[in-house]
Amino acid sequence: MRLSQRMARLGTETAFEVLVRARTLEARGRNVVHLEIGEPDFDTPPHISEAAVRALKAGATHYGPSAGIPELREAVAEDTARRRGMRATPEMVVVTPGAKPILFFVILALIDEGDEVLYPNPGFPIYESMIRYIGGNPVPVRLLEDQAFSLDVDQLVSRVGPRTRLIILNYPHNPTGGTIPESGLRAIADAAARHGVPVLSDEIYSRILYDGEHVSIAALPGMEPLAIVLDGFSKTYAMTGWRLGYGVMPAPMAQVVAKLQTNATSCTATFSQMAGVAALKEDQSAVERMVAEFRRRRDATLDGLRAIPGFQCARPRASRAASWPTSSSRRPGSPASPAPPSASSARGTCASRTPTAWRTSRKRCAASSN
Ligand SMILES: Cc1ncc(COP(=O)(O)O)c(C=O)c1O
Repeated sequence: MRLSQRMARLGTETAFEVLVRARTLEARGRNVVHLEIGEPDFDTPPHISEAAVRALKAGATHYGPSAGIPELREAVAEDTARRRGMRATPEMVVVTPGAKPILFFVILALIDEGDEVLYPNPGFPIYESMIRYIGGNPVPVRLLEDQAFSLDVDQLVSRVGPRTRLIILNYPHNPTGGTIPESGLRAIADAAARHGVPVLSDEIYSRILYDGEHVSIAALPGMEPLAIVLDGFSKTYAMTGWRLGYGVMPAPMAQVVAKLQTNATSCTATFSQMAGVAALKEDQSAVERMVAEFRRRRDATLDGLRAIPGFQCARPRASRAASWPTSSSRRPGSPASPAPPSASSARGTCASRTPTAWRTSRKRCAASSN
Protein backbone atom coordinates (compact mmCIF):
# COMPACT_ATOMS: atom_id res chain seq x y z
CA MET A 1 0.00 0.00 0.00
CA ARG A 2 1.44 3.38 -0.95
CA LEU A 3 1.20 5.90 1.85
CA SER A 4 0.66 9.61 1.35
CA GLN A 5 3.80 11.74 1.54
CA ARG A 6 2.50 13.53 4.59
CA MET A 7 2.63 10.26 6.59
CA ALA A 8 6.42 10.58 6.61
CA ARG A 9 5.94 13.72 8.72
CA LEU A 10 3.73 12.09 11.36
CA GLY A 11 5.41 11.47 14.72
CA THR A 12 4.03 9.44 17.57
CA GLU A 13 3.90 9.07 21.32
CA THR A 14 6.39 6.29 21.98
CA ALA A 15 5.02 5.85 25.51
CA PHE A 16 2.16 3.85 23.98
CA GLU A 17 4.61 1.46 22.30
CA VAL A 18 6.53 0.99 25.54
CA LEU A 19 3.24 0.40 27.37
CA VAL A 20 2.34 -2.46 25.01
CA ARG A 21 5.72 -4.07 25.64
CA ALA A 22 5.40 -3.55 29.40
CA ARG A 23 1.92 -5.11 29.46
CA THR A 24 3.20 -8.09 27.45
CA LEU A 25 5.88 -8.64 30.10
CA GLU A 26 3.29 -8.30 32.86
CA ALA A 27 1.10 -10.91 31.15
CA ARG A 28 4.10 -13.25 31.40
CA GLY A 29 4.23 -12.64 35.15
CA ARG A 30 7.00 -10.03 35.26
CA ASN A 31 6.71 -7.17 37.76
CA VAL A 32 6.91 -3.85 35.88
CA VAL A 33 7.19 -0.34 37.31
CA HIS A 34 5.40 1.93 34.83
CA LEU A 35 7.23 5.15 34.06
CA GLU A 36 6.05 5.42 30.49
CA ILE A 37 2.41 6.39 30.13
CA GLY A 38 1.04 9.42 31.96
CA GLU A 39 -1.95 7.98 33.72
CA PRO A 40 -3.03 7.82 37.34
CA ASP A 41 -2.59 4.41 38.95
CA PHE A 42 -5.97 5.00 40.61
CA ASP A 43 -9.29 3.62 39.40
CA THR A 44 -12.10 5.90 38.29
CA PRO A 45 -14.11 6.89 41.40
CA PRO A 46 -17.05 4.45 41.74
CA HIS A 47 -19.81 7.09 41.58
CA ILE A 48 -18.58 8.08 38.11
CA SER A 49 -18.58 4.49 36.83
CA GLU A 50 -22.03 3.99 38.33
CA ALA A 51 -23.36 7.02 36.44
CA ALA A 52 -22.16 5.41 33.19
CA VAL A 53 -23.79 2.10 34.09
CA ARG A 54 -27.06 3.89 34.81
CA ALA A 55 -26.77 5.75 31.50
CA LEU A 56 -26.17 2.51 29.58
CA LYS A 57 -29.15 0.86 31.26
CA ALA A 58 -31.26 3.91 30.42
CA GLY A 59 -30.38 3.51 26.73
CA ALA A 60 -27.56 6.03 26.24
CA THR A 61 -26.20 3.84 23.45
CA HIS A 62 -27.01 5.99 20.43
CA TYR A 63 -25.31 8.73 18.45
CA GLY A 64 -25.29 12.11 20.13
CA PRO A 65 -24.64 15.65 18.91
CA SER A 66 -21.13 16.12 17.49
CA ALA A 67 -20.28 18.92 19.92
CA GLY A 68 -21.41 16.87 22.93
CA ILE A 69 -24.60 16.24 24.87
CA PRO A 70 -26.17 19.44 26.25
CA GLU A 71 -25.88 18.26 29.90
CA LEU A 72 -22.12 17.87 29.63
CA ARG A 73 -21.53 21.04 27.60
CA GLU A 74 -23.43 22.91 30.31
CA ALA A 75 -21.51 21.23 33.14
CA VAL A 76 -18.17 21.97 31.44
CA ALA A 77 -19.15 25.61 30.88
CA GLU A 78 -20.13 26.01 34.55
CA ASP A 79 -16.98 24.30 35.80
CA THR A 80 -14.77 26.33 33.45
CA ALA A 81 -16.33 29.65 34.42
CA ARG A 82 -16.03 28.83 38.13
CA ARG A 83 -12.54 27.36 38.16
CA ARG A 84 -10.91 29.58 35.57
CA GLY A 85 -12.84 32.80 36.13
CA MET A 86 -13.55 33.23 32.43
CA ARG A 87 -16.75 33.64 30.48
CA ALA A 88 -17.87 30.21 29.28
CA THR A 89 -21.18 29.14 27.78
CA PRO A 90 -22.28 25.71 26.49
CA GLU A 91 -21.95 26.98 22.88
CA MET A 92 -18.23 27.44 23.52
CA VAL A 93 -17.72 23.79 24.51
CA VAL A 94 -16.88 20.82 22.29
CA VAL A 95 -16.63 17.38 23.89
CA THR A 96 -14.26 14.90 22.26
CA PRO A 97 -13.10 11.27 22.75
CA GLY A 98 -10.17 12.23 24.99
CA ALA A 99 -8.64 15.68 24.93
CA LYS A 100 -6.20 14.82 22.14
CA PRO A 101 -8.66 15.41 19.28
CA ILE A 102 -9.00 19.05 20.39
CA LEU A 103 -5.32 19.45 19.63
CA PHE A 104 -5.62 17.79 16.25
CA PHE A 105 -8.82 19.59 15.23
CA VAL A 106 -7.57 23.03 16.28
CA ILE A 107 -4.32 22.62 14.35
CA LEU A 108 -6.26 21.30 11.34
CA ALA A 109 -8.63 24.23 11.51
CA LEU A 110 -6.02 26.99 11.88
CA ILE A 111 -2.80 25.97 10.16
CA ASP A 112 -1.94 26.16 6.47
CA GLU A 113 1.26 25.01 4.79
CA GLY A 114 4.25 26.97 6.15
CA ASP A 115 2.39 28.67 9.01
CA GLU A 116 4.41 28.94 12.19
CA VAL A 117 3.24 27.35 15.44
CA LEU A 118 5.06 28.04 18.71
CA TYR A 119 5.10 25.13 21.11
CA PRO A 120 7.02 24.00 24.23
CA ASN A 121 9.96 21.69 23.67
CA PRO A 122 10.61 19.35 25.35
CA GLY A 123 6.89 18.75 25.53
CA PHE A 124 4.01 16.47 24.72
CA PRO A 125 5.25 14.89 21.46
CA ILE A 126 1.90 15.14 19.71
CA TYR A 127 2.21 18.94 19.35
CA GLU A 128 5.16 18.74 17.00
CA SER A 129 3.84 15.63 15.28
CA MET A 130 0.55 17.33 14.41
CA ILE A 131 2.11 20.62 13.35
CA ARG A 132 4.45 18.83 10.94
CA TYR A 133 1.74 16.49 9.68
CA ILE A 134 -0.50 19.39 8.71
CA GLY A 135 2.44 21.09 6.95
CA GLY A 136 2.98 23.80 9.55
CA ASN A 137 6.35 25.03 10.68
CA PRO A 138 7.02 24.07 14.32
CA VAL A 139 8.89 26.74 16.28
CA PRO A 140 10.09 25.32 19.63
CA VAL A 141 10.21 27.37 22.82
CA ARG A 142 12.57 26.11 25.50
CA LEU A 143 11.99 25.49 29.20
CA LEU A 144 14.20 27.00 31.87
CA GLU A 145 15.75 24.64 34.38
CA ASP A 146 16.56 27.45 36.82
CA GLN A 147 12.88 28.39 36.85
CA ALA A 148 11.69 24.88 37.70
CA PHE A 149 11.40 24.11 33.98
CA SER A 150 8.84 26.78 33.32
CA LEU A 151 8.52 28.03 29.73
CA ASP A 152 10.99 30.69 28.57
CA VAL A 153 8.41 33.43 28.11
CA ASP A 154 10.93 35.96 26.74
CA GLN A 155 11.93 33.54 24.02
CA LEU A 156 8.30 32.85 23.19
CA VAL A 157 7.42 36.53 22.96
CA SER A 158 10.47 37.21 20.78
CA ARG A 159 9.41 34.48 18.37
CA VAL A 160 5.85 35.72 17.79
CA GLY A 161 5.84 37.30 14.35
CA PRO A 162 3.75 37.89 11.23
CA ARG A 163 3.87 34.21 10.24
CA THR A 164 2.82 32.94 13.68
CA ARG A 165 -0.66 31.43 13.44
CA LEU A 166 -0.91 29.61 16.76
CA ILE A 167 0.76 29.47 20.19
CA ILE A 168 0.51 26.19 22.08
CA LEU A 169 1.00 26.36 25.83
CA ASN A 170 0.99 23.49 28.29
CA TYR A 171 0.98 24.25 31.99
CA PRO A 172 1.30 22.48 34.28
CA HIS A 173 3.77 21.08 31.84
CA ASN A 174 4.30 17.61 30.48
CA PRO A 175 6.94 16.31 31.13
CA THR A 176 8.51 18.67 33.69
CA GLY A 177 5.67 19.55 36.06
CA GLY A 178 6.62 23.24 35.71
CA THR A 179 3.99 25.94 35.39
CA ILE A 180 3.95 29.46 33.94
CA PRO A 181 3.62 32.26 36.53
CA GLU A 182 0.81 34.79 36.04
CA SER A 183 3.29 37.49 35.01
CA GLY A 184 4.51 35.23 32.21
CA LEU A 185 0.97 34.45 31.12
CA ARG A 186 0.23 38.18 30.97
CA ALA A 187 3.26 38.76 28.75
CA ILE A 188 2.16 35.95 26.43
CA ALA A 189 -1.42 37.24 26.37
CA ASP A 190 -0.18 40.74 25.46
CA ALA A 191 1.93 39.39 22.59
CA ALA A 192 -0.90 37.16 21.35
CA ALA A 193 -3.42 40.02 21.45
CA ARG A 194 -1.00 42.44 19.74
CA HIS A 195 -0.47 40.03 16.85
CA GLY A 196 -3.98 38.54 16.87
CA VAL A 197 -2.60 35.02 17.37
CA PRO A 198 -4.84 32.31 18.89
CA VAL A 199 -3.53 30.47 21.97
CA LEU A 200 -4.26 26.80 22.51
CA SER A 201 -3.80 26.37 26.24
CA ASP A 202 -3.40 22.72 27.21
CA GLU A 203 -4.43 22.71 30.86
CA ILE A 204 -5.05 19.00 31.25
CA TYR A 205 -2.92 18.88 34.43
CA SER A 206 -4.44 21.99 36.00
CA ARG A 207 -5.95 20.09 38.92
CA ILE A 208 -2.87 18.03 39.71
CA LEU A 209 -1.10 21.05 41.09
CA TYR A 210 0.72 20.90 44.43
CA ASP A 211 1.63 24.50 45.13
CA GLY A 212 -0.32 27.67 44.38
CA GLU A 213 -3.40 28.25 42.23
CA HIS A 214 -3.81 27.51 38.55
CA VAL A 215 -4.33 30.67 36.48
CA SER A 216 -5.74 30.20 32.98
CA ILE A 217 -4.48 32.50 30.25
CA ALA A 218 -8.03 32.40 28.88
CA ALA A 219 -9.19 34.57 31.79
CA LEU A 220 -6.70 37.37 31.09
CA PRO A 221 -7.64 40.62 29.33
CA GLY A 222 -7.78 40.44 25.53
CA MET A 223 -7.87 36.65 25.43
CA GLU A 224 -11.59 36.00 25.03
CA PRO A 225 -11.56 35.97 21.20
CA LEU A 226 -8.22 34.13 21.02
CA ALA A 227 -8.15 31.48 23.74
CA ILE A 228 -8.85 27.80 23.27
CA VAL A 229 -8.64 25.84 26.52
CA LEU A 230 -7.99 22.11 26.35
CA ASP A 231 -8.90 19.99 29.37
CA GLY A 232 -10.44 16.64 30.09
CA PHE A 233 -11.23 13.81 32.45
CA SER A 234 -8.32 11.45 31.79
CA LYS A 235 -5.95 12.73 34.46
CA THR A 236 -8.14 14.56 36.99
CA TYR A 237 -10.67 11.77 37.36
CA ALA A 238 -8.45 8.80 36.45
CA MET A 239 -10.52 8.19 33.30
CA THR A 240 -7.85 7.63 30.64
CA GLY A 241 -9.64 4.63 29.15
CA TRP A 242 -13.02 6.35 28.91
CA ARG A 243 -11.78 8.72 26.21
CA LEU A 244 -13.39 11.92 27.35
CA GLY A 245 -12.03 15.44 26.94
CA TYR A 246 -13.12 18.88 25.82
CA GLY A 247 -12.16 22.25 24.47
CA VAL A 248 -13.59 25.66 25.43
CA MET A 249 -13.24 28.31 22.73
CA PRO A 250 -15.09 31.14 20.99
CA ALA A 251 -18.47 29.81 19.79
CA PRO A 252 -17.74 30.19 16.03
CA MET A 253 -14.53 28.18 16.48
CA ALA A 254 -16.48 25.56 18.47
CA GLN A 255 -18.74 25.08 15.44
CA VAL A 256 -15.70 24.53 13.21
CA VAL A 257 -14.21 22.00 15.64
CA ALA A 258 -17.58 20.21 15.94
CA LYS A 259 -17.70 19.98 12.14
CA LEU A 260 -14.29 18.32 12.12
CA GLN A 261 -15.57 15.94 14.77
CA THR A 262 -18.59 15.08 12.59
CA ASN A 263 -16.12 14.13 9.87
CA ALA A 264 -13.75 12.23 12.13
CA THR A 265 -15.68 10.38 14.85
CA SER A 266 -19.27 11.70 14.63
CA CYS A 267 -19.49 12.16 18.40
CA THR A 268 -18.14 11.07 21.79
CA ALA A 269 -19.73 7.98 23.43
CA THR A 270 -22.89 9.19 25.15
CA PHE A 271 -22.58 7.05 28.28
CA SER A 272 -19.00 8.31 28.77
CA GLN A 273 -20.39 11.83 28.60
CA MET A 274 -23.00 11.02 31.27
CA ALA A 275 -20.13 9.81 33.46
CA GLY A 276 -18.42 13.14 32.77
CA VAL A 277 -21.46 15.02 34.09
CA ALA A 278 -21.26 13.04 37.34
CA ALA A 279 -17.50 13.64 37.54
CA LEU A 280 -17.89 17.42 37.31
CA LYS A 281 -21.02 17.84 39.39
CA GLU A 282 -20.64 15.31 42.19
CA ASP A 283 -18.23 14.64 45.05
CA GLN A 284 -14.65 15.83 44.36
CA SER A 285 -13.03 14.19 47.39
CA ALA A 286 -11.52 11.34 45.33
CA VAL A 287 -9.61 13.92 43.26
CA GLU A 288 -8.32 15.57 46.41
CA ARG A 289 -7.17 12.21 47.83
CA MET A 290 -5.41 11.29 44.60
CA VAL A 291 -3.58 14.62 44.38
CA ALA A 292 -2.54 14.35 48.06
CA GLU A 293 -1.05 10.92 47.36
CA PHE A 294 0.80 12.22 44.28
CA ARG A 295 2.17 15.09 46.37
CA ARG A 296 3.42 12.61 48.98
CA ARG A 297 5.14 10.57 46.25
CA ARG A 298 6.70 13.67 44.72
CA ASP A 299 8.17 14.67 48.06
CA ALA A 300 9.48 11.18 48.81
CA THR A 301 11.03 10.81 45.35
CA LEU A 302 12.50 14.28 45.39
CA ASP A 303 14.10 13.67 48.79
CA GLY A 304 15.49 10.34 47.60
CA LEU A 305 16.87 11.68 44.32
CA ARG A 306 18.41 14.75 45.92
CA ALA A 307 20.20 12.53 48.42
CA ILE A 308 22.14 10.81 45.60
CA PRO A 309 25.52 12.47 45.00
CA GLY A 310 25.68 14.11 41.58
CA PHE A 311 21.93 14.64 41.20
CA GLN A 312 20.09 17.90 41.28
CA CYS A 313 16.36 17.98 40.82
CA ALA A 314 14.05 20.92 40.33
CA ARG A 315 10.90 20.71 42.42
CA PRO A 316 7.95 19.99 40.11
CA ARG A 317 4.92 22.09 41.10
CA ALA A 318 2.55 19.70 39.43
CA SER A 319 2.59 16.16 38.27
CA ARG A 320 2.13 13.82 35.46
CA ALA A 321 0.41 11.23 37.56
CA ALA A 322 2.67 8.28 38.38
CA SER A 323 5.87 9.81 37.07
CA TRP A 324 7.58 13.12 37.43
CA PRO A 325 10.46 14.25 35.35
CA THR A 326 13.17 16.20 37.02
CA SER A 327 16.23 18.06 36.07
CA SER A 328 19.57 16.48 36.60
CA SER A 329 23.19 17.15 36.37
CA ARG A 330 25.40 14.49 34.93
CA ARG A 331 27.05 12.12 37.37
CA PRO A 332 30.65 13.22 37.84
CA GLY A 333 32.80 11.32 35.37
CA SER A 334 29.93 9.89 33.32
CA PRO A 335 29.61 10.66 29.60
CA ALA A 336 27.17 13.32 28.48
CA SER A 337 23.89 12.06 27.13
CA PRO A 338 24.24 11.44 23.39
CA ALA A 339 20.84 12.83 22.47
CA PRO A 340 18.15 14.87 24.16
CA PRO A 341 15.26 12.87 25.54
CA SER A 342 11.83 12.91 24.03
CA ALA A 343 9.01 13.99 26.27
CA SER A 344 8.07 10.42 26.91
CA SER A 345 11.54 9.08 27.44
CA ALA A 346 12.42 11.95 29.78
CA ARG A 347 10.11 10.79 32.50
CA GLY A 348 11.84 9.54 35.56
CA THR A 349 15.30 9.51 33.97
CA CYS A 350 16.78 11.93 36.40
CA ALA A 351 20.34 10.68 36.25
CA SER A 352 20.99 9.81 32.70
CA ARG A 353 20.14 12.85 30.64
CA THR A 354 21.41 16.34 30.57
CA PRO A 355 18.86 19.07 30.02
CA THR A 356 21.67 21.28 28.79
CA ALA A 357 21.34 19.37 25.55
CA TRP A 358 17.65 20.37 25.38
CA ARG A 359 18.53 24.00 25.83
CA THR A 360 21.48 24.33 23.55
CA SER A 361 20.33 22.46 20.48
CA ARG A 362 17.15 23.64 18.89
CA LYS A 363 17.58 21.25 16.01
CA ARG A 364 18.14 18.29 18.27
CA CYS A 365 15.24 19.32 20.49
CA ALA A 366 12.94 19.45 17.51
CA ALA A 367 14.00 15.98 16.48
CA SER A 368 13.56 14.61 19.95
CA SER A 369 9.82 14.17 19.90
CA ASN A 370 9.78 11.92 16.87
C1 LIG B 1 -0.10 17.45 27.89
C2 LIG B 1 -1.17 16.52 27.44
N1 LIG B 1 -2.18 17.01 26.70
C3 LIG B 1 -3.16 16.21 26.26
C4 LIG B 1 -3.18 14.87 26.57
C5 LIG B 1 -4.29 14.01 26.02
O1 LIG B 1 -5.17 13.55 26.99
P1 LIG B 1 -6.28 12.50 26.66
O2 LIG B 1 -5.79 11.18 27.14
O3 LIG B 1 -7.49 12.95 27.40
O4 LIG B 1 -6.51 12.48 25.19
C6 LIG B 1 -2.15 14.31 27.34
C7 LIG B 1 -2.11 12.88 27.65
O5 LIG B 1 -1.12 12.33 28.07
C8 LIG B 1 -1.12 15.17 27.80
O6 LIG B 1 -0.11 14.71 28.54
